[in-house]
Amino acid sequence: MKERLQKLISAAGLCSRRQAEGWITAGRVTVNGRVAVLGERADPGVDRVEIDGKPLKAPERHYYILLNKPAGYVTTLSDPEGRPVVTDLLREIPARLYPVGRLDYNTEGLLLLTNDGALAHHLAHPRHEVEKTYLVRLRGHLSDEDRSRLQNGVVLEDGPTAPARVARVRLSGQHTWLEITIHEGRNRQVRRMCEAIGYPVSRLKRIRLAFLDLGRLGAGEYRHLSKEEVNRLHSL
Ligand code: URA
Repeated sequence: MKERLQKLISAAGLCSRRQAEGWITAGRVTVNGRVAVLGERADPGVDRVEIDGKPLKAPERHYYILLNKPAGYVTTLSDPEGRPVVTDLLREIPARLYPVGRLDYNTEGLLLLTNDGALAHHLAHPRHEVEKTYLVRLRGHLSDEDRSRLQNGVVLEDGPTAPARVARVRLSGQHTWLEITIHEGRNRQVRRMCEAIGYPVSRLKRIRLAFLDLGRLGAGEYRHLSKEEVNRLHSL
């Protein structure tokens, strides 16, 4: 399909449409060997588009993956200690994927990964901080008073935490299970909040991120997000 040249050039990730218009006007763009003019269209599947004599690459396909991260994987792209990395679980995806936010080595659950830098940036921005719900197992029995402390905010070394929601508290043997929902994204936040009031976390799993949940995905399994889900994430 024919598209305006500036659209093709910006879709290849080289620059904005406006800058591409400047390149066309400056005579840096050719179509099938002939200098292009502003307003011209080309079909990247048929026409040879070049900028400064270099062929235009096909637009990068974007992948949006929801992974159920198992414990024992790091969310960085490589690990100096040689531990397994989450992208080891996504070898079939032919793109360089970046995690949106992070989960600790021993934290399980919902992790988004994408090669769409604009979306990753959008979701990581503090203004768009989305709700995240964690299933937490604590050592000890959480008292009502301590539950209120978690909800109202706990003072950590990097400042007090914002109010959180604590739900479905259930005691089991020497442990307490609960769901905690936060919208901040500080490093090791849930573990540090619980430790700060005297309850070490023995298991931590993210079960929801905004409107997304894990569904039936087993540990280590993933799925592609639908177009509707991607659009909803963009508009958060
Ligand atoms: N809070 C934590 O403590 N760890 C995580 O991995 C995510 C949230």
